[in-house]
Amino acid sequence: MADTKIFLSESEMPQAWYNINPDLPAPLMPPLNPATNEPLGPEALAPLFPMALIMQEVSMEPWIEIPDDIMRIYKLWRPSPLHRAFALEEELGTPARIYYKNESVSPAGSHKPNTAVAQAYYNKQEGVNRITTETGAGQWGSALSLAGALFDIEIRVYMVRISYDQKPYRRLLMQTWGGECIPSPSDLTNAGRTILANDPDSPGSLGIAISEAVEEAAGREDTKYSLGSVLNHVLLHQTVTGLELKKQLAIAGEKPDMMIGCVGGGSNFAGFCFPFVKDKLDGQDIQIIATEPTACPTLTRAPYRYDFGDNAQMTPLLKMHTLGHSFVPPPIHAGGLRYHGDAPLVSLLVSQKVIEAHAFHQNEVFEAAITWARSEGHLPAPETAHAIRAAIDEALKCKETGEEKCIVIAYSGHGHFDLASYDAYLSGNLIDYPLPQEMIDEAMKSVPEVPEQ
Ligand SMILES: Cc1ncc(COP(=O)(O)O)c(C=O)c1O
Repeated sequence: MADTKIFLSESEMPQAWYNINPDLPAPLMPPLNPATNEPLGPEALAPLFPMALIMQEVSMEPWIEIPDDIMRIYKLWRPSPLHRAFALEEELGTPARIYYKNESVSPAGSHKPNTAVAQAYYNKQEGVNRITTETGAGQWGSALSLAGALFDIEIRVYMVRISYDQKPYRRLLMQTWGGECIPSPSDLTNAGRTILANDPDSPGSLGIAISEAVEEAAGREDTKYSLGSVLNHVLLHQTVTGLELKKQLAIAGEKPDMMIGCVGGGSNFAGFCFPFVKDKLDGQDIQIIATEPTACPTLTRAPYRYDFGDNAQMTPLLKMHTLGHSFVPPPIHAGGLRYHGDAPLVSLLVSQKVIEAHAFHQNEVFEAAITWARSEGHLPAPETAHAIRAAIDEALKCKETGEEKCIVIAYSGHGHFDLASYDAYLSGNLIDYPLPQEMIDEAMKSVPEVPEQ
């Protein structure tokens, strides 16, 4: 009988992150200065990010070495296990072989510390002692607070108001690691005050929280900003997961037929699949599937355009699938998937049809999460359960056709702080939001017209 878990030793951990930029099937469009529509030079980002991260953002080197101090901290939970989901296979009666790469084993409970630790390290190297950020569901804010504690950096987190109210334990986790957590919109920034003046009860959104964190960092000499997804350097740091996975699948004697992950900004999905995208571009037959909520259908329904990354139009313009920076998604429980845009790298690969995307309603997602919890035992985050939904559907198709596919899931995090959403599902109070086209059309009016580059 094959092993249920496949481990690597610490000495087998990847020593460098994989940069997909030089291997892309089409060039990545540069970020633009919204005032001129001209490409932005690295120095323009210097008020917000340390230079080492800016250089990673634009690097064309295929491999970037992981510094020893980051490796030392990664080893607190890495390498993460690869599991074979035998119990789920049996429950479904599928001939498919299902695996999952388990990133829920980190101290913060998700993949987010893979980049939080790296970002804190490079900031500290350049003498930065204070960082602002935003968080939706609270996973990213917790991860950066953890990294702040490990590198002695002060962290201020703007947390989307609705999550701040719904998830007191995520806030307490941040505070336990020494992070300061402020509900957004707040009266500490112009961006927050503007929103509150129009709507004192605003539930907030990731786009608004990003505006607040960026505004504060841009206005203070002693503070930089950190983003938990979307940007190239964040996706780069996450490739530690896909690189470990490659070795683990080789130990199991497997090659993936299908790889499935959830996409909010795209970081866990990219880290998991980018090392395999290279194999696919080299001719290997791998179906790579991104999953997202029907209520925030960035990859499945949104145009591929230049847009702002935040609500108050403070960021550069990024070429990405976007629902419009003024789009405020319905209040679904997968808070980490409620973002109007997507990583430019993931967006490019979707536009090139290297990656396909599927969207799901939250009731079917939670149904899959329950099937998972009652077979595999682990309780998935609502975000992660989107990938599980797609994997179960594909495994059931294999049951019909008799195909023995190897399906690999990116298990991005656990749902121990998401029990209120499980409560809503179990008590039949979870609402599905079909998103009317008019809502997308309305938000798309806010997207700037940029001449074809
Ligand atoms: C568990 C989990 N999975 C996935 C995501 C989505 O983010 P990303 O697309 O950057 O991986 C989040 C974001 O908060 C998360 O907490």
